[in-house]
Amino acid sequence: MTISQPSQPERAFKYFDLYGSMRSHKVMLEDMVRMEAYHSAIFKNKSEMIADKVVLDVGTGTGVLAVWAAKAGAKRVYAVDASNAAELAKRLVRVSNLSDIVTVLHSKVEDIEIPEPVDVIVSEWMGSLLLKESMFDSVAYARDKWLKPGGLMLPSHATILLGLYAPTSDQDHTHFIRAKFAKEMAQWNETVTNLQRLDVDYSSFTSELEQDLSDHFFQNAIRVNYLSPDNLASDPQRVLEFDCATVDPTALFQFSKDFQFTVSKHAEIKGFLGWFTTDFPNGVVLNTGPGNTYNHWGQQLYPLKQSFKVAPGEKVVGTVTVHRHHEESRLNVVEFKYQVGLGAQQTASFNMGTVEHMHKGSKSVLFSHDL
Ligand SMILES: C[S@@+](CC[C@H](N)C(=O)[O-])C[C@H]1O[C@@H](n2cnc3c(N)ncnc32)[C@H](O)[C@@H]1O
Repeated sequence: MTISQPSQPERAFKYFDLYGSMRSHKVMLEDMVRMEAYHSAIFKNKSEMIADKVVLDVGTGTGVLAVWAAKAGAKRVYAVDASNAAELAKRLVRVSNLSDIVTVLHSKVEDIEIPEPVDVIVSEWMGSLLLKESMFDSVAYARDKWLKPGGLMLPSHATILLGLYAPTSDQDHTHFIRAKFAKEMAQWNETVTNLQRLDVDYSSFTSELEQDLSDHFFQNAIRVNYLSPDNLASDPQRVLEFDCATVDPTALFQFSKDFQFTVSKHAEIKGFLGWFTTDFPNGVVLNTGPGNTYNHWGQQLYPLKQSFKVAPGEKVVGTVTVHRHHEESRLNVVEFKYQVGLGAQQTASFNMGTVEHMHKGSKSVLFSHDL
């Protein structure tokens, strides 16, 4: 299958700027859920998967996956990064004494010329809710151009999951925006009174502002870390699954999936929660779901303006649609249409922050809010 190269070069330039600094890579290198999953993925069954193989690391960053592949016995590793991180990777390869095995290419993977096809492609391409950053386009492009037939993709499969968010009292991350919204409205009411003293009446604008502000505050996903599974009111649902070796990346530009949650407890639902897993051919799974352990992706919380109460056995049915943002193809829009029991259909639509906010996350904060 052939695909066209990702477009929007001026935006891509900004994107690669973000990855040029050690600071952005620190966040990823500190994420031990991520690091341990990739380490196991490369070293478990390394003799069948990696030893004596030619490996391409798409988006090598500081070079860690390329270095691990070389240590696992790869014959040759091509490590590619379009950002200045390629220079950091060259250093890691040098200090690891692996310059005879790993070749670092400071280039977009779409532009490389290498002397041979590869047996394995390894890449850490995942963004929030899996698809943010749209980097899989580049991985698929490299796959179609450079991977031998039957070659191995690491990871091999990817899945997006969705849950019903019913926060325990100490883990209500929607409280933050509800409080912010209430504070803005209280300030406005005070402003109306102040302006009345100056002989101008803005009270008729209050309901319009209220609608405007609530649209603003409830239109962005919130990244949540350290969430425990108690915050889910039902089993999660898989809303997208694909095989990295065969999927047509254009199928990921937009997809819709029906869901049906069966509620397992009395709860107040305050949003939907989304996360992803990736699987490796040797059984290793990278799980970014709620599990009390930090990972830098966290879960995406889609806060609902109107929370709703549910009882065990009740159904929440609907459709989720994920599509690329029309102005910035590295971002997604997530839309929910849902219905509780026989109630009226509700809709809610969310942006996924901006590219610039991608690595705002830090271990020291519970959640960040990309407004
Ligand atoms: C999420 S980071 C992963 C870095 C590293 N592999 C790791 O696991 O620590 C993704 C990297 O891919 C690079 N990248 C994204 N798209 C690329 C492309 N089309 N060509 C080359 N590098 C790319 C980015 O610059 C970034 O350094």
